Amino acid sequence: MTVDLDSRAREVMQDNDLGNYTVPTKGLYPYQWNWDSAFCALGFNTYSEDRAWLEIETLFASQWQSGFVPHIIFHKQDPNYFPGPDVWQSNTSPECTGITQPPVSASMILALWKSGDKRANKARLQAIFPKLVACHRWFYRTRDPLNKGLVLTVHPWETGRDNSPEWDAAARRIDTSEVGTYQRKDITHVNKDMRPLDEEYDRYITLLKFGRATQWDHDRIAKESPFKVIDVCMTMILSRADHDLMLLAEELGEAAIVEELKTRIALTRNNINYLWDDQLKAFCSKDLISGLPSGHITSASFLAFYADVGSQEQREYLLAHLDRIASKVKYLIPSLDPESDRFDSMRYWRGPVWSVVNYLAALGLKECGQSVWAQRILDDTRALVKESGFYEAFCPLTGAGTGGDHFTWTAAIWLYWLDI
Ligand code: DGY
Repeated sequence: MTVDLDSRAREVMQDNDLGNYTVPTKGLYPYQWNWDSAFCALGFNTYSEDRAWLEIETLFASQWQSGFVPHIIFHKQDPNYFPGPDVWQSNTSPECTGITQPPVSASMILALWKSGDKRANKARLQAIFPKLVACHRWFYRTRDPLNKGLVLTVHPWETGRDNSPEWDAAARRIDTSEVGTYQRKDITHVNKDMRPLDEEYDRYITLLKFGRATQWDHDRIAKESPFKVIDVCMTMILSRADHDLMLLAEELGEAAIVEELKTRIALTRNNINYLWDDQLKAFCSKDLISGLPSGHITSASFLAFYADVGSQEQREYLLAHLDRIASKVKYLIPSLDPESDRFDSMRYWRGPVWSVVNYLAALGLKECGQSVWAQRILDDTRALVKESGFYEAFCPLTGAGTGGDHFTWTAAIWLYWLDI
C-alpha cells in the first residue's frame, strides 16, 4: 500500500513538474504558487536534492528589489486561470501577482540543508540566504505597522486561507460596487460548493484592482488598503521562519543577522498577546481597522506551538480546544472549529483539513513535548491520504477529498512526512 502510494505521490509531483517549478495542480492552479512551491521542495528532497533547491530558487528568481516575493509567478500564460497576468499587471518579467504569501521558504530551506549534502549545497545556501533575509526584512519594513512583529495582510489570498471566516467581518466592509464583470474559472474545475462564494470573489477582485491602481506600491497598499488584518497564521509562520533563518545564519557565520533575527523573534514573542482572544481563549487574527479579533478558532490557532509562543496557561487552553475539537471530528485538524456556526466541512478553509497545516502544527506540538497530539495529527493525515488520495484538502468528518485532486503539496507531504 505504502509503496503504491509512494509511486503515486511521485507521479503527482512529476505530472505537475514543469522543469524548474511545479504547479499545485493542473487546471485549477496552473502557475507557480509561493508557499506551495516551498512545501513541494520537501517532497522533491526525498528523491532529488537538486530539484528541491531548484524549486525555491526559481521562486526567488522573481523576488523584487524590495525583498517582496510574489504569491504567484505566471511563467507562461494559461487561459484556464482567472485572474491571470493580464489582470494583475505587475509589469515584471516573468509576470506575477502584487501580493505575497506565508513566508515558509526559510524553514523549508533549513530542512533541505539539514538533511542534505552540506558540501554540495553550501554555495546554494550562500546564494539564497541573502534573498531570504531580504524577504523577511520586507515583512518587517512593510507589514509590521504596529512594530510588534505581527504580520499585516492586505488580501485574503495572501494568507493562503482565502475564505477563512477570520476575514468575514473585515472583508464585508469592502465596497465592491466597482468590481465590474468577470468570469470565475475555478468553478469550472471543481465543485462550486468546495470554493469561496461569488461575493467573496468580488472582494478579492476589488482588492486586486485597488493594489493595481497603486501600481503595486506596497507602502501605499499597507497604509490605504480597505482590508487590513493582522494574520495569526502569517505571524506564526514568519516568527518560526525567523528562527530557522537564524539557524542558517549561524551556519554561515552571519553574526549580525543572528542578532537581528533574535531581536525579531523576541519582539513577536513579547507582543503575541495582541492576537490572544481572551473570550475565545485562543489565538486568532485581528482586524486592524476595527481593532476586533476575528473570534474564530482555526487550525492556525494551533501554530502557536510551531512558533513557540504563548504562556503555559495559553498553551493549556489551546490543548483543551484541540481535545474538544477532536471529539467532534474524525480527522484533525479542521480548518475551522466544528462548533462554529460557519463550519462547512467541504468548503475550502471553512472546515476541511489541510495536510501542510497539519505538518506545521504537529511539528510544533512535538517540539513542545506534546508527542501524543503530534502523533495523532500525523496518523489522521496519513489516514486521509490513504483513504482518499492526494486531494487539496479533506473533509474532517468523513475523510472525503475536497478541492483539487492530484495535488502537489499533499503528495510532497506524503513523501516527506507521512511515509514513515
Ligand atoms: C485561487 O485562485 O483560488 C488562489 O487561492 C489564489 O491564491
